[in-house]
This record gives sequence, structure tokens and C-alpha cells, in this order.
Amino acid sequence: MKRVVVAPGDGIGPEVIPPALDVLKFFHPDWEYTPVYLGYECWKRTGDALSDKTLETLRKADLILFGAITTPPDPKYHSVVLRIRKELDLYANLRPVFGEGFDILIVRENTEGLYSGIEWKEKDRACTLRVVSEAGSRRIAKFASACANRRRRHLTIGNKANVMKSDAYFLEICMEEAEKTGISIDKKYIDALVLDVLQHPSRYDVIVTTNIFGDILSDAAAFLEGGLGMLPSANIGRHQALFEPVHGSAPDITGKGIANPIAAIRCVSLLLKYVGERPLAIEVERAIQKTIAAGIKTPDLGGTATTDEVGREILKNLALSQQKEPVDL
Ligand code: NAD
Ligand code: IPM
Ligand code: MN
Repeated sequence: MKRVVVAPGDGIGPEVIPPALDVLKFFHPDWEYTPVYLGYECWKRTGDALSDKTLETLRKADLILFGAITTPPDPKYHSVVLRIRKELDLYANLRPVFGEGFDILIVRENTEGLYSGIEWKEKDRACTLRVVSEAGSRRIAKFASACANRRRRHLTIGNKANVMKSDAYFLEICMEEAEKTGISIDKKYIDALVLDVLQHPSRYDVIVTTNIFGDILSDAAAFLEGGLGMLPSANIGRHQALFEPVHGSAPDITGKGIANPIAAIRCVSLLLKYVGERPLAIEVERAIQKTIAAGIKTPDLGGTATTDEVGREILKNLALSQQKEPVDL
């Protein structure tokens, strides 16, 4: 039995989480599911985007299924998703990108770098401190190296060591950890890397990088799969994990019923892999592929289907895949 906390959040979050939850409940109807209310709308209504009580509920979860949160550039508002990553110390943000002929795992450092939260405003300038610690770098380097070791044994370290001492330090530590595992290592400046990933995705296996570079790289890499509606992510800590689409709350399409639920449903696939149920995760992916192949797609993928239609079709395909061959008795 697992304790799953479900946080739909803002915008299209509450539109894409129900179909994802249907898929998870299809396999695990008996797990404990606890919904929580948090985010920007919650802040507007209650004055608190993430209450202490909600944070406690999240701390007690084994697994968190998260939709999306609106993070406005309002100095009075502090991003909920960033706070949760830090409070729960979900230090590894995994963003898989795969398709015909490529299978990339972006491993984004998730707790420091330019997202240190150490910021101040002076009279005529605003500053954000970019923090790259030894401990923070070493644990993500170990994580990424271990991932590469279990996959195709190739690690690319995305960096800007030519410009920033903080990145030279990150690179040095990643090299040390990767060398211990004997995997092949490649270092690339992040600007050139973003283009090369788009032009030659098959050259990549695991890519490790600092927080904001991983953020930008993963949105760009979504191009390889048809857009942001396709990419899931897993935020992994020592004892728990949070799964959320890479995309945001998409205010431009909120309320229209056309958000692509695949990123959210793939979060369930990642969750199932995380709990050791890889065969079920593969079934979810198959059901997704079958749905796309049948042309049941939301407008971002060039189709005319609604969020619900795509969700229902994926569920139907899953149910069909579970049916046993007829037996003659
Ligand atoms: P976004 O990812 O919300 O949207 C970017 C574009 O992609 C939009 O045109 C949107 O319609 C499209 N898109 C995104 N998801 C889609 C889906 N499932 N189906 C179809 N189209 C989809 O990014 P944004 O517009 O830059 O940000 C909107 C808000 O979301 C901001 O407040 C931002 O801070 C927040 N955000 C939150 C998260 C998160 O909660 N993890 C992630 C990214 C952005
Ligand atoms: C993401 C998002 C977040 C980030 C924002 C909303 C704080 O873009 O999860 O990719 O920058 O990490
Ligand atoms: Mn992002």
C-alpha cells in the first residue's frame, strides 16, 4: 500500500490530473489517495499558497502526483513547486525524452544553482546568488552516473564552465563521480548542447546539468516529441518522489478541455517505474502509443480530440491489454 497525495494545482493541472489518476487507480485502486489544495488560486483565495498542514501531508506521502502551478512574477508570491522541491529535498529532477531512434534522460539538479532563493534588491540592481555546493553537485552527479550505468553507459555534462566558476566546480565534481563508474563521459557547453540535442538526439543517453540549464533544455527537447504536452518528470528525494508534467498551467488553453493529458499520464508511468512496476509502466506507454496511432490526439499534436477523449481512449487500451486470451474449457 502506498500513500499518494494528489495536487492538481492551477490552470490545466485540474484538467490533466483526473485522467492520470484514472490510470493509476486502474492498477492500484486500493492505495490511499489524498487530495490537497495548493497553488496560486489557493493563495488568492486563502492568502496561503502552501499551508503548513498541506506541507505536512506532502511530507508523509510516499508518492505525490502533481499537476501544474501558476507562478506569477510577483515578488510577494513564492513559487510553491520550488518550495516543495526544497522542503522535501527532491534533489533529482528526471526528464525523459524519447521517440523514434532516441532515448534521452535529462537529470536536472533540483535544489540549488540559480534557484538558490538567495536574492536581494539594491538601489539600482537586483541580485540572485547562484550556489553550487560540493554536496549538491556530488549527489546529482552520483545519481546521473548510476542512471547512465544502468542504461547505455554514456553521460553528457551540460555546463558553462568557460564563463562561471560555479559551473567549473559542478563539472569537476561530475567528472570525478562519472569516472568512478567507468561510463563514457562527454562535456558540452549548454548553449551548443541545446542545439545538438535537437539536431542529433540519438547521440545522447543521460545528460546531467545544473538547475536552470536543465529547465531550459527540457522545454527545448520537448520539441522532439511534439511539444510540452508530452513530457513527464520525476522529482526524486531520498524517501519519496513527486511526479509532474514538465509543462506549466497553460493559461492560454485553460478551461477549453483541450489540454494534452499525455505528459500527466506519463507521470503515472514514471511513478510505476519508481515503485518497481516497470511492466505496468510499459503497458501505459503502449496504450498511449496506440491512442496516438489511432489519431486520437489533442490540438497541440495536430488532432481534434479533447482531454477527456484522449484519457478515455488510453484507459480503454489499457483495459484491452489486460484482457486474457480466451481459453477453451
Ligand atoms: P506552459 O508550459 O504553461 O505553456 C507553454 C505553452 O505550451 C502554452 O502555449 C501552452 O498552451 C502549451 N502547453 C503546455 N502544456 C500543454 C498541454 N498539456 N497540452 C497542450 N498544450 C500545452 O508555460 P508558460 O505559459 O510559460 O507558463 C504558464 C504558467 O505556468 C506560469 O505561471 C509558469 O510560471 C507556470 N509553470 C509552472 C510549472 C510547474 O508547475 N511545474 C512549469 C512551467 C511553468
Ligand atoms: C518547471 C517549471 C518551474 C521551474 C517553475 C514554474 C518554477 O518551469 O518545473 O520546469 O523553473 O523549475
Ligand atoms: Mn520549466
